[in-house]
Amino acid sequence: MYDVTNNKVVAPNTAIQKGRVKMKSLSALCGALLFSLSLAVSADPIIIKFSHVVAVDTPKGQAAERFKKLAEERTKGKVQVEVYPNSQLYKDKEEMEALQLGAVQMLAPSLAKFGPLGAREFEVFDLPYIFDSYEELHKVTQGPIGQSLLKKLDSKGIVGLAYWDNGFKVMSANKPLHMPADFRGLKMRIQSSKVLDSEMRALGANPQVMAFSEVYQALQTGVVDGTENPPSNLYTQKMHEVQKFVTVSNHGYLGYAVIVNKKFWDDLPADIRKTLEGALQDATKYANDVAKKDNEDALEAVRKSGKTQIIQLTPEERKAWKKALVKVHQEHADKIGKDLIESIYKETGFNPNAL
Ligand code: LMR
Repeated sequence: MYDVTNNKVVAPNTAIQKGRVKMKSLSALCGALLFSLSLAVSADPIIIKFSHVVAVDTPKGQAAERFKKLAEERTKGKVQVEVYPNSQLYKDKEEMEALQLGAVQMLAPSLAKFGPLGAREFEVFDLPYIFDSYEELHKVTQGPIGQSLLKKLDSKGIVGLAYWDNGFKVMSANKPLHMPADFRGLKMRIQSSKVLDSEMRALGANPQVMAFSEVYQALQTGVVDGTENPPSNLYTQKMHEVQKFVTVSNHGYLGYAVIVNKKFWDDLPADIRKTLEGALQDATKYANDVAKKDNEDALEAVRKSGKTQIIQLTPEERKAWKKALVKVHQEHADKIGKDLIESIYKETGFNPNAL
């Protein structure tokens, strides 16, 4: 069409303009589509892989499940926690490496497994008889000493978030263990802690560091003669089926630090991190509420199985164990830190000379 007033052909231009408008709205539509797509992508849940080495029906296994439930509910699915129990993903040493590399985001290793990271202070928890009860232990794990220990992990690329209880250890073997002399020459599986190495040597045994997942078979085949663990671990790994005697010695404590990869944790949106901290706080309370009873029930189940004889120490026998083992405190004072050990004695009232 020809515009007489402007002496211009308008029809094609109008068509072009209309085309441009169409193009514009099309690209706006594409933009909107892309935007909602990117929203959908950014709405992908944050995955927390939580690896651990024990059975689901242990204090740690149950607490991990509780954390998963609370974290997923409270973030309305923005966080998904994948729990891998029973060394399914990694064994003890590998899980620490995987956390530092970011292949998993969360773990709860035993406090006896931080030495190889260069955090020897954590071995203070392995000192024989340093805690007589959960109440004494909580003065440390729920107080300033526990917090300052967790802070030390920052430099390893790890954030320490909480302590979870398991319990007090029993000793097992295929012979009755009443007195320190009964340990002479026995090969005893231990976790990777220098303090536990000294503990077994102080009893005259030969300590062997071994991953938790390998213990049952090692006991079954005689690669080691015995081991130590809280009853919940002994029972859920069926160790009692291959150990004829269990001595309720309560000579040491085994518990956990819940840890996360620092970069992952620091990069989380602040509101999500806060929600996860709340979920963990409640899971921690749950863990510490169930631990004692779980261990009592596990010991009862071992007794009921009829496969293992349970030995209670007499006061004299207990005194002999203490006498043999308390020297380990002195042996490790330099490596762990004298001040740290003293500060714990102060909290709990432990007196190494009062034997
Ligand atoms: C062990 O290796 O015996 C324990 O640390 C296992 C655990 O995580 O309780």
